[in-house]
Amino acid sequence: MLSVVVLISGSGSNLRALLEATANPLFGAKIRAVGADNPATGLEHADLFGVPTFVVEPSQFGNREQWAETLLANVQHFEPDLVVLAGFMRILPPEFVAALTPNLINTHPSLLPDFPGAHAVRDALAAGATRTGVTIHVVDEGVDTGPQLKQAEVLVLPGETEAQLHERIKLVERDLLVDVVREFAQQKTSLPA
Ligand code: GRF
Repeated sequence: MLSVVVLISGSGSNLRALLEATANPLFGAKIRAVGADNPATGLEHADLFGVPTFVVEPSQFGNREQWAETLLANVQHFEPDLVVLAGFMRILPPEFVAALTPNLINTHPSLLPDFPGAHAVRDALAAGATRTGVTIHVVDEGVDTGPQLKQAEVLVLPGETEAQLHERIKLVERDLLVDVVREFAQQKTSLPA
């Protein structure tokens, strides 16, 4: 069984999709814990599924490195095989990434390498893109630059707002993220014990 820790910052709809999928023991992965960088509303999904949560807020620390060290200690406490950044809106320092990659993945609402960063949907609309989408990738030390695992395209509809487009992207994103985690679970179960 693949042990997974998920990190979030917001509403946690991707987390919810993972919790629902992994509730089936045949899926082959279990979410051991959910962490956040703020008391995110999405933590409620973990509570509903009886999954432990932790919050490590940067404001409680003197610098980013100390914050990330404590976040990493919380993550590693659950001995995950895979850590999923599912709408985790902070850049992690190289030490954090090095400790977990390549078993550290992120979901990003654009077709990378187009529109990296925190405002991918807004940036795609501002650029007049007619197609955008989702990328699931391994996290490296850059911002949304790591090796890509899966992408899915979403066409931009005329006159669509950022919120409308992001909601449609998230519908695709949840399925794609579940698929990627399923593939990690299958790889783990196919390895010799
Ligand atoms: C997702 O689109 C993620 O890619 C982006 O923020 C959104 C988080 O959505 N970085 P949710 O919290 O999973 O609903």
